[in-house]
Amino acid sequence: MKVLIVYLSIHHGNTKKVAKAMGEVLNAELAKPWAVNPEELEKYDLIGFGSGIYWWRHHWALLKLVEDLPRMEGKKAFIFSTAGMNIPWYNHRALRRELKEKGFQIVGEFSCRGWDTNGWLAKIGGINKGHPNEKDLERARRFAKELKRNLHPFHPKS
Ligand SMILES: Cc1cc2nc3c(=O)[nH]c(=O)nc-3n(C[C@H](O)[C@H](O)[C@H](O)COP(=O)(O)O)c2cc1C
Repeated sequence: MKVLIVYLSIHHGNTKKVAKAMGEVLNAELAKPWAVNPEELEKYDLIGFGSGIYWWRHHWALLKLVEDLPRMEGKKAFIFSTAGMNIPWYNHRALRRELKEKGFQIVGEFSCRGWDTNGWLAKIGGINKGHPNEKDLERARRFAKELKRNLHPFHPKS
């Protein structure tokens, strides 16, 4: 199974920790959006898209990448994020819509809290200090294992 995780993590490296934890479980290649060659996406069985949430959506470069892709009918994808306020149904909606428009099949979504010192929050040391923590990362690993299991339902559980 070939997996690619496309991610951006510009604030505190919060989402990078999640991307790496998932990447280890899935044996995935990790790439930034600008390093992705759309023509090569065909060779992956599963593609993850994630970033911090900036102004209630994923990073614009991730959204732009998906917007510029050709149609990817039935290609399996998952979404992930870290955010100051962990409200995935809301925070993921722009990327979710964009992926669906391109024909991706979204097979899972993951999110957790991330240390946030944006704007005035810096004055109080931010919120969610220490997140993602080990518990968050363990949840990310479990999510990734579940994705793996669902892609290969006849393999023994690992
Ligand atoms: C410019 C900026 C805007 C942000 N906007 C939001 C937001 O709208 N909602 C939210 O929950 N968190 C927001 N955050 C907090 C980040 O989503 C959170 O810190 C995230 O974990 C950052 O991930 P990163 O370290 O991988 O970049 C914002 C942070 C920055 C720097």
